[in-house]
Amino acid sequence: SSRKDARRNVRVTPRMDAEYRTGVKRNENFSKLQAGYLFPEIARRRNAYIEENPDKDIISLGIGDTTLPIPDHIRSGLQAGASKLGTKEGYSGYGAEQGSAGLRDKIASNIYSDRVKPEEVFVSDGAKCDIARLQMMFGPGTTSAVQDPSYPVYVDTSVMQGQTQLFNEGTSQFDGITYMRCDASNGFFPDLENTQRTDVIFFCSPNNPTGAAASKSQLEELVSFAKKNGSIIVYDAAYAPFVRSSDVPKSILEIEGAREVAIECNSFSKYAGFTGVRLGWVVVPNELKYSDGTKVRADFNRVMTTCFNGASNIAQSGGLACLDKEGLDEIEGLIDYYMKNAALLRTTMIDLGFDVYGGTDAPYVWVSFPGRSSWDVFSEILEKTQVVTIPGAGFGPGGDGFIRMSAFASKESCEEACERFRKMYG
Ligand code: MLT
Repeated sequence: SSRKDARRNVRVTPRMDAEYRTGVKRNENFSKLQAGYLFPEIARRRNAYIEENPDKDIISLGIGDTTLPIPDHIRSGLQAGASKLGTKEGYSGYGAEQGSAGLRDKIASNIYSDRVKPEEVFVSDGAKCDIARLQMMFGPGTTSAVQDPSYPVYVDTSVMQGQTQLFNEGTSQFDGITYMRCDASNGFFPDLENTQRTDVIFFCSPNNPTGAAASKSQLEELVSFAKKNGSIIVYDAAYAPFVRSSDVPKSILEIEGAREVAIECNSFSKYAGFTGVRLGWVVVPNELKYSDGTKVRADFNRVMTTCFNGASNIAQSGGLACLDKEGLDEIEGLIDYYMKNAALLRTTMIDLGFDVYGGTDAPYVWVSFPGRSSWDVFSEILEKTQVVTIPGAGFGPGGDGFIRMSAFASKESCEEACERFRKMYG
């Protein structure tokens, strides 16, 4: 009957008897979500463990959060942005909702070699928020496909938008979402021939959590699949700068025809240690159109101007510094450091006899524990080695039986974690 009440918009009388409750009916999409969002849940378990074991030395290879300090040139950009605000001439208030012209130009030229136009670039406060805003734009009537496993934000925001039915306990999937299994048997690239059409395809490469990076020919296949079906690809390239393999494109927009079917999200978070600074961008090509011929870019512009007030001017000043020659060199230094950690974690786990994926084009190492519940393995590793990892099942049912290790820790922490793994599994 509460459903009927909501449909008729009948006001429910507030409860006065026991605890006070308003008369507002909960958005039923939120009751479909499973427990809490993955990363706060990991933090909760880690904190509970610390509370019970206050003398233990915890190492975090969990959430992919950067740890190295921001290098000099990039930091001077942030500082210059802050200093300008203290002067009459330099002060600025609201900026353009799409980002400063200077930064949009520089992203188009320095990251995309002018393959995209500045007007197609929307500067933001990060890729996660952009995914949520894209979902708001697509609305509840859209169907989507995700890699399984993948970054949980794609599925959770689809659920929040009402694009799905209920969570299916039998399949551990939300009914209404197409899960494209990506595992060792298919080289972590979905079997597109046997994938049904959806309106939107979320595709993250290099992938979080598996670390798999799609080759040029795989991305060509993805683009032609989207084109044949009239789908839009939301390509998450947040880990692009970690790519080391020569046949792996850093942007889907390098692929012929992609401008008609793809949106690309990206972020300075993992590039430059901006997870706390908050700066990202989305590219929506002019050629991308809805079935009625409207430019998707026009609607995304409407979302950004209505629901966002532009990225912080201080952060954008830091972004400009990132894209100077000195900044790009500093970024290479940061990435090199984390990729050495990834190599160490990878070789250690291989030496210990595990099947290991990722860690070569991405800062994530994906370790197989066949037949085991990943939450059990997560707890066992935490209890025996005090190392926090992420259980693969948190990224979708296809991630069960795996553990993700993040290389964003310090070198010393990674070395110590590997020592402990050798003691536990050696
Ligand atoms: C992760 O650990 O998967 C990511 O760092 C989370 C994020 O970027 O939001």
